[in-house]
Amino acid sequence: MVALAGESGSGKSTAALSLMRLLPWGAKVGGQIMAGDRDVAALSREDLRRFRASEARIIMQDPWSSLHPMHSVGAQLVESARVADPKLTKGAARELAIETMRRVRIPDPESRMKSYPHEMSGGQLQRVLIAMALVAKPKLLLCDEPTTALDVSTQAQILDLLRELNREMGLTIVIATHDLEVISGLADRLVVMYAGRVVEEGPTDQVMSNPQHPYTWALLQTAPRNNTGQRMRTIEGRPPALDDLPEGCSFAARCQFTIVDCRTGRPELLLIDEPRRHRTACFRVQAEHAATTTHTQEEQ
Ligand SMILES: Nc1ncnc2c1ncn2[C@@H]1O[C@H](COP(=O)(O)OP(=O)(O)O)[C@@H](O)[C@H]1O
Ligand SMILES: [Mg+2]
Repeated sequence: MVALAGESGSGKSTAALSLMRLLPWGAKVGGQIMAGDRDVAALSREDLRRFRASEARIIMQDPWSSLHPMHSVGAQLVESARVADPKLTKGAARELAIETMRRVRIPDPESRMKSYPHEMSGGQLQRVLIAMALVAKPKLLLCDEPTTALDVSTQAQILDLLRELNREMGLTIVIATHDLEVISGLADRLVVMYAGRVVEEGPTDQVMSNPQHPYTWALLQTAPRNNTGQRMRTIEGRPPALDDLPEGCSFAARCQFTIVDCRTGRPELLLIDEPRRHRTACFRVQAEHAATTTHTQEEQ
């Protein structure tokens, strides 16, 4: 389970959509998008259609706009199952739909099949959307801010469900969120984005307890504590416009720890802890890391 975190506007949704090649017309994706041993960026039209129908599914932020208002929930589940596997009979797809609704803890699934989206609560609808993805038996589930539209107690239930699906079904989940509270104790790995790029990536506990990039550090400082809803502090300044990025590090203008390099070059995402695959894109941290590594080598 991987979390994509960053302030609103940092490029989380764009990154998630890119993974499915669902970007708007004219957008370009460079490099590769590896799903297992296949490059999604190089899939043919037909393979891409199959990939989106059954291997990887995406759940967008707003459950209301993601379902057809005039079709019953059951019809939409059956449709999703049969698009993923055209060999399924209607009866088998219906059974799979009911079983999956039960799996995501929708009470009384047989009669719920007949409900329309407007007859269900936000939390129930989010479960239906998860079920719509699951009937396709995907390997990867992308969730874009899956709980932002929900109240706090429903949020917790949906997150518990996602964690359970990840553990029990071995489903890989990528969850994009601006809310760091959501991530701790949930995601195995944390990817922090700033101005459309990854600035830090590593095991969630390590990144949260020992953040390396100054942006991650600042972001953690702004997370509300003790459910008081109070923000500890805010990060001064604003992120740069993505169509007009500065020459050096995109965070330099807001960073308290800049060195000369930060204004001229763009830091790459480099490993600073190999066994735990902790990476950061910060010149200063990389320089300090290089210094300590050489130091230890000299001592040995
Ligand atoms: N890598 C990128 N290159 C260019 N534009 C980007 C990139 N990532 C995001 N954007 C643009 O920035 C804006 C905010 O991105 P979005 O993905 O919606 O952020 P978030 O989901 O973190 O709030 C969008 O208009 C998007 O098109
Ligand atoms: Mg978004």
